[in-house]
Amino acid sequence: MAAIAIYSVKGGVGKTTFAVNLAWCAATISRRKTLLWDLDATNGAGFLLGVDPKKKRQALSVFSGDRSVSKLVQATDYDNLSLLPADESIRALDRQLDRLGKKKRLAKLTASLSKDYDRIIFDCPPVLNEISTQVMRAADLVIVPLPPSPLSTRVFDTVVAEVRGSGKKHPPILPVLSMIDMRRSLHREAREANPTWPVIPAASAIERCAVERKPVGAFDPGSVAARGFAQLWTAIERKLANG
Ligand SMILES: Nc1ncnc2c1ncn2[C@@H]1O[C@H](COP(=O)(O)OP(=O)(O)OP(=O)(O)O)[C@@H](O)[C@H]1O
Ligand SMILES: [Mg+2]
Repeated sequence: MAAIAIYSVKGGVGKTTFAVNLAWCAATISRRKTLLWDLDATNGAGFLLGVDPKKKRQALSVFSGDRSVSKLVQATDYDNLSLLPADESIRALDRQLDRLGKKKRLAKLTASLSKDYDRIIFDCPPVLNEISTQVMRAADLVIVPLPPSPLSTRVFDTVVAEVRGSGKKHPPILPVLSMIDMRRSLHREAREANPTWPVIPAASAIERCAVERKPVGAFDPGSVAARGFAQLWTAIERKLANG
């Protein structure tokens, strides 16, 4: 089993979009048993997958040990893809983890799922707190979506510092240029400055995910966007295999 975090300190950079589309690639293209674990109270991952939330707000209870992960996991429309949804209760997660004083709570919960899943993908909130610290301890790889802006370099430096600070053995980081539009000179410059980073294009097909409530590969498989996520997924599998 490998756990992959989609993380940035910055909001609105494409984390949830990446998490949902990459989880779909893992389940559908690689046929891996995949769990998409939403750690953001807004439950964007469930929305994009077309999974309607349950009435009871219990996401936090997994961390206190009151409920097992398997009790809260929901099926999706896709073979091999399950969702551990978030809800409002997750807003208290940072305080809960602090209070529990268990630095590896998320890492241990994740490890306990290795019998059931081949890939676990975390959709992270844009925070720098105990949640992000625990995510770094639980993850085997951290994907950082970076829109092409000079600010992104600073954001990336902050993420690298957070990952390194999480412990002696920190997970590798894969930066990905997100929302790239090669017609724009600033975007071309960002691409030229980082020629080895994978790229996800700015695409209306990706925006449409929120209307269709499906991953782009499920409704427009031939699109540049769907191919972009498939290529990114291949790069991730390669990185996991090579360390
Ligand atoms: N490659 C893309 N092309 C076009 N639109 C995109 C792309 N990636 C993301 N978006 C749009 O940008 C917005 C923010 O994306 P998303 O919700 O995935 O970001 P986020 O990092 O998860 O945000 P938050 O920090 O609020 O959780 C959404 O409206 C999404 O549709
Ligand atoms: Mg999000």
